[in-house]
Amino acid sequence: MSTLTDMEILAQAIIFIFAGYDTTSSTLAFALHSQAAHPDIQKKLQEEIDVALPNKAPPNYDTVMEMEYLDMVLNETLRVYPIGIRLERVCKQDVEIDGVLVPKGSIVNVPVYALHHDPKFSKDNKGSNNPYVYMPFGNGPRNCTGMRFVLMNMKLALTKVLHNFSFQPCKETQIPLKLSQKPMFQPEKPILLKVGPQDATINGA
Ligand code: HEM
Repeated sequence: MSTLTDMEILAQAIIFIFAGYDTTSSTLAFALHSQAAHPDIQKKLQEEIDVALPNKAPPNYDTVMEMEYLDMVLNETLRVYPIGIRLERVCKQDVEIDGVLVPKGSIVNVPVYALHHDPKFSKDNKGSNNPYVYMPFGNGPRNCTGMRFVLMNMKLALTKVLHNFSFQPCKETQIPLKLSQKPMFQPEKPILLKVGPQDATINGA
């Protein structure tokens, strides 16, 4: 049986930090910007959280993973803001698809952002199981290793934050949010929001 060396364990740990830290914090920032820009959705999500966790009960794995609207909100955030905007694969053998020859060794680019934003695709594939239309974590044997962990982690973070606080736009908040032209997938301007106690949204104060 082969085991990992200390150096391999260290290398994996470093990759997890690089692959996992900024992707998670940016997606959460996009999610909260979207909530501030759409107070009706924020309110509905907070109501779901309050019902699942009455009297400010602390969340656990089951309650967080069972919240349907939270799942929808996060999936939609990842559709609109897929950090992995483009994926690459190297073609292992000559293949012809719809009359187009893809020679062995060529690099194939998968335009995830464009697929996620194609109105024709979204509409046509509504309710379908085509796994190659919605790919915030990539697909296949080399998809995101952290997917299940980070979905749970982000749901937990959003639950804890929206259970106690509400987010509103402030004068610096860019709505609609524009993306930077730089190679990194990031907003043109930093995301700044106004934060208050949760009751402010729930009670409409
Ligand atoms: C919102 C958060 C995240 C997003 C959107 C995201 C997205 C992605 C995407 C699109 C890929 C490329 C997949 C492909 O080519 O098919 C990827 C790869 C990867 N991700 Fe994530 N990721 C996130 C968080 C994390 C976390 C938290 C970890 C680790 C704890 C992680 C570990 C990895 C690793 C190790 C790979 C490379 C997998 C391989 O090449 O075999 N990611 N991620």
